[in-house]
Amino acid sequence: MYTQAMDTMGKDATQAPVPRSAEEARLQERFDARIDAGDFIEAKDWMPEHYRKTLVRQISQHAHSEIVGMLPEGNWVTRAPTLKRKAILLAKIQDEGGHGLYLYSAAETLGTSRDAMLDALHSGRAKYSSIFNYPTLTWADVGVIGWLVDGAAIMNQVPLCRCSYAPYARAMVRICREESFHQRQGYDALLVMMQKGTDAQRAMVQDAVNRWWWPSLMMFGPPDDQSPNSALSMRWGIKRISNDELRQKFVDATVPQAEVLGVQLPDPDLKWNEARQHFDFGAIDWDEFWQVIGGNGPCNRERLSARVKAWEEGAWVREAALAHASKQEKQERVAA
Ligand SMILES: [Fe+2]
Ligand SMILES: [Fe+2]
Repeated sequence: MYTQAMDTMGKDATQAPVPRSAEEARLQERFDARIDAGDFIEAKDWMPEHYRKTLVRQISQHAHSEIVGMLPEGNWVTRAPTLKRKAILLAKIQDEGGHGLYLYSAAETLGTSRDAMLDALHSGRAKYSSIFNYPTLTWADVGVIGWLVDGAAIMNQVPLCRCSYAPYARAMVRICREESFHQRQGYDALLVMMQKGTDAQRAMVQDAVNRWWWPSLMMFGPPDDQSPNSALSMRWGIKRISNDELRQKFVDATVPQAEVLGVQLPDPDLKWNEARQHFDFGAIDWDEFWQVIGGNGPCNRERLSARVKAWEEGAWVREAALAHASKQEKQERVAA
């Protein structure tokens, strides 16, 4: 699912360090020239340590967001209203698990291990998108997550398909295709309720939109002037479009969809600005954003403990897989 300007953490990352030797300076120069030429960097290519660290942080936080993002929706698998909706929801959640796996693999190419990344998540050192710390109270939340949260994820992620680090860019191409299915299934579920449902169902959709609209806008990360790592990420071609620009694109794309759906977006300041050719929108409550990032959102503790429990209860599966692999390896060695 997501990213949320994964550059909100690591305030040490605002400036690239000065090269330590003439050789490093030469390599750095070549690297910069490749970036300027729009080249992709592969896993075995030389890269500045700072670029590597920035990517490990961003890709691992992105991977964590995919797997933690499975949790709020998993809550509704057993309560989906029809067999069709249940099958769609299961497929979507499975996709998110797959996204996590591609991304952990992409991060591993940078020399970090999956165990180390998961340990950082489970011990609370690593972050994931704050959007998944909100609860899913009704079935309409599942539709709204698809429409708004996956919709915001697509806006964030499409530019990552051109990220300068090739393994990340390749993973994003496939992920983006699947995200667009996620967005559509959510919108479709809401459309059915709005057009064919009861008044109570329509009210349920409106309530879910009211709760998810502002957190969805926060998914693009803090305003550009408070986003310390953005400039360097832009310089390195990791990030292509700024947080505020992406947020505006999302608002502009979503308002007409809300009209078709027949829901109100909960912002009295939302209106078309003829001069700017964009929608104006109200102030975002950044205090809430920092509270949730800081671990004090409505579901932070619940999400983390669900992850840790799944990891611990899955230990026997990992052990069995390793035992099976080593048995097979032995058999192959005997046969050879
Ligand atoms: Fe995803
Ligand atoms: Fe998704």
